[in-house]
Amino acid sequence: MPENLTIQRPDDWHLHLRDDSMLQTVLPSTVQHFARAIVMPNLTPPVTSLEAARAYRKRIIAALPRNSSFQPLMTLYLTEQITGKEVQKARESGDVFGIKLYPAGATTHSDAGVLDIENVYPVLQAMAECDMPLLVHAEVADPDVDIFDREARFIDQVLEPLTNRFDNLRVVLEHVSTRHGVEFVRSRERHVAATITPQHLYMNRNAILAGGIRPHNYCLPVLKRESDREALVAAATSGDTRFFIGTDSAPHTRSAKENACGCAGTFNAPAALSIYAQVFEHANALDKLENFLSIHGPNFYGLPVNTGTLALERLPTQVPMSIGENKNIVTPWLAGQTLQWRVRDS
Ligand code: NCD
Ligand code: ZN
Repeated sequence: MPENLTIQRPDDWHLHLRDDSMLQTVLPSTVQHFARAIVMPNLTPPVTSLEAARAYRKRIIAALPRNSSFQPLMTLYLTEQITGKEVQKARESGDVFGIKLYPAGATTHSDAGVLDIENVYPVLQAMAECDMPLLVHAEVADPDVDIFDREARFIDQVLEPLTNRFDNLRVVLEHVSTRHGVEFVRSRERHVAATITPQHLYMNRNAILAGGIRPHNYCLPVLKRESDREALVAAATSGDTRFFIGTDSAPHTRSAKENACGCAGTFNAPAALSIYAQVFEHANALDKLENFLSIHGPNFYGLPVNTGTLALERLPTQVPMSIGENKNIVTPWLAGQTLQWRVRDS
């Protein structure tokens, strides 16, 4: 069993950085490990224009630790108002790398999202024409649909027809959480891909209710059955280029999580790489880890692989109990737990 692993520097293809002082609090945890990240646009108000994305990008750059060469890859939040022209402008800008579809009401800050997918078909056509990837939160928002079925329902009702109709649109099924989702991606052409989070690889839904309610294991899409988790591990460790890292690290303050109505989202940036390594080791697939973390994502997005490296070592490491201070105290996912792999300080 290898004790050390040096890989090309990874990227995070699905990340929530928030804004203002929370951005300052959480950014170092990502920058420490990742060279680039696809930054989600679900701020309040959401990032719906090229101008807003550029302004947000500037705020992220301004918040970076000194000497950091981290690159935020910006996204736009798809609304029924966005025009094909704006999409094209965004593509040509070189700053925007995807447009995120949130079904209205499906998750945190998604109220401005899309009510009826057919209303954005002209925009999807424009995206296909200028090769702008569509990033999808693949859950129906209908509260009458069982929460554990919302991904499968969305795939059958929305994603399958959409990918049939726009057959050269690049699509990422973000944070795939079910066997059904994995099978869907496998059934499509190579330009349909999926990101997989550490929590969906590491835990099943029992972890949300293990001896009590565990709010830090609550995210959307909600964790699913063990058989789903196994399908995700099989996909991630298969070497199939359509599956790659996207942590969905999504910080909320401790008080917003440990609450009678706790927010969805796990702040997993500090533990993510340790968990991916642990999961791949357990599946006897450490030889596939670098492709999943560092190669498949850039290839999908048509970007160069990073030139720097990152060293992982098989040494126990403890996840910090908290990050930030005052109004921004955040409890990392797996806080206080000992993990088997850590990132070597560079
Ligand atoms: C995300 C957030 O908090 O912004 N929450 C989550 O549970 N994943 C939103 C999202 O990606 O769904
Ligand atoms: Zn997310």
